[in-house]
Amino acid sequence: MFEEKRKKIAQTVEYLNNRKTINPKIAIVLGSGLGGLTQKIDIVDEIPYKEIPNFPISTVQGHKGTMIFGKLNGVDVVVFNGRFHYYEGYPMSVVTFPQQILPGLGVKTVILSNAAGGMNPTFKVGDIMLIRDHINLFGTNPLLGPNDDTLGPRFPNMSEVYSHRLLKLAHQTGEKLNIFLQEGVYIGVTGPCFETPSEYKMFHIMGADTVGMSTVPEAIMAHYLGLEIFALSVITDLGVVGKVEKASHEEVLAAAAKTGPKVVDLIYNMMPEI
Ligand code: HPA
Repeated sequence: MFEEKRKKIAQTVEYLNNRKTINPKIAIVLGSGLGGLTQKIDIVDEIPYKEIPNFPISTVQGHKGTMIFGKLNGVDVVVFNGRFHYYEGYPMSVVTFPQQILPGLGVKTVILSNAAGGMNPTFKVGDIMLIRDHINLFGTNPLLGPNDDTLGPRFPNMSEVYSHRLLKLAHQTGEKLNIFLQEGVYIGVTGPCFETPSEYKMFHIMGADTVGMSTVPEAIMAHYLGLEIFALSVITDLGVVGKVEKASHEEVLAAAAKTGPKVVDLIYNMMPEI
């Protein structure tokens, strides 16, 4: 029953394991406008997604579409420079394919980053929010369907998807570097529309501090597979009652790019302790 799925994952893992010359334990997924992190990497190999078996190419502006093996602050990492979104029309199996190959590569920890709208009235554009928890509002789940018990449990426990250990490390690192950090709940939606003022209001009432169109499916899959997760949002626009701005993709990219160096600084300095 699982042959087809297992074969695909094994094919991709085999290609990458044969090609890679380092064995990173940490993977990083770069969100919109956060590609600047790649400048800090001592790159060993950069592989366009189109060369990787079973990888689709990402269609969104601001997402490059390469997989990078290299060293970040002396630590081996594999970086996904560009992700696959549900709104692009990919099924959840494709959206979460990068996570599905990580155990086969020997990766233990995944760092997810995204650009997001902020609903918490104390948030400002350019703030960084560490993700403590999420709400899945995609209306679907990447784990639907028969469960392959060799990969993970049928009914995953979701009480600590985002590692408390890594949250603590991030706060300590932020303090040392004088980087102000918010912490809160990310709600994941399909997009591609940005929210109406009433939707932002509803999401805040539901308990979310940021909203975005990624990360949740990836976190569900990574957690299911037993990976430790650290995630953060860059607030690129506000969905605060009375302050809702006319968000555009260009503004999101510009705001994310402006905060990018702070995010890079934070992750760079966390590396040796992860
Ligand atoms: N809503 C949804 N996704 C987003 C937003 C937003 O306001 N900003 C960046 N990604």
